[in-house]
Amino acid sequence: MMADQPTLPRILVLASGSGTNFQALVDASRERDFPGQVVAVGCNQPQAFVLERAAQANVETFVVNHKDFSSRDEFDAALMAHILRYNPDLIILAGFMRILTTDFVRAFRGKLLNIHPSLLPRYTGLNTHQRALDAGDSTHGTSVHFVTEELDGGPVIAQAEVSVAPDDTRDTLAEKVQQKEHLLYPIVVRWFCEGRIQLGREQVLFDGQTLDSPMRLPDN
Ligand code: GAR
Repeated sequence: MMADQPTLPRILVLASGSGTNFQALVDASRERDFPGQVVAVGCNQPQAFVLERAAQANVETFVVNHKDFSSRDEFDAALMAHILRYNPDLIILAGFMRILTTDFVRAFRGKLLNIHPSLLPRYTGLNTHQRALDAGDSTHGTSVHFVTEELDGGPVIAQAEVSVAPDDTRDTLAEKVQQKEHLLYPIVVRWFCEGRIQLGREQVLFDGQTLDSPMRLPDN
């Protein structure tokens, strides 16, 4: 495993699936001036490909399988115990497909980010790409937000848009959105590690000022 760099903020990633966002973040964090270090990946799916990606990248992993617990509270308590061992400054949800309890979210308030595949507040929850197509939307995208008790409802930090083409399917749209996610998430993580973004009472503070609307990555 890579030696810890003691001065850099410690980032812990939670994921459930393929881990392309984890990969994008690890790749970004290997750039020389990146202000954070990825110290571990936690996963609730023992077979998830993200675990292989982490092994390849020499990042430590742990698995907390939700099927081993009879309640959400017990699962979250076990997850929290694992996370605390790494003493993270930032926890990022990158395709982590479990709903977290209020206790968990409160314990890490202001340190917990999520990426969600829609232009929030549109399409919280699942099947966002199909729902955007069904609604005939001409734009779609992805959002990075602070996690609060409300599912997919915490203050949005930044968004990236994609245009919806007439022949887009759920899969082509998902692909376009993921390409944007791989650019957007490392940028927001960088801002966080540089101390530029904070969670205020109910809004995002960017360089100490309330963010009136999410930062935007242009569609090009
Ligand atoms: C990402 O597109 C992310 O936005 C989405 O899961 C995908 C994970 O991909 N997250 C959610 O739907 C959360 N509700 P990845 O495993 O390749 O990073």
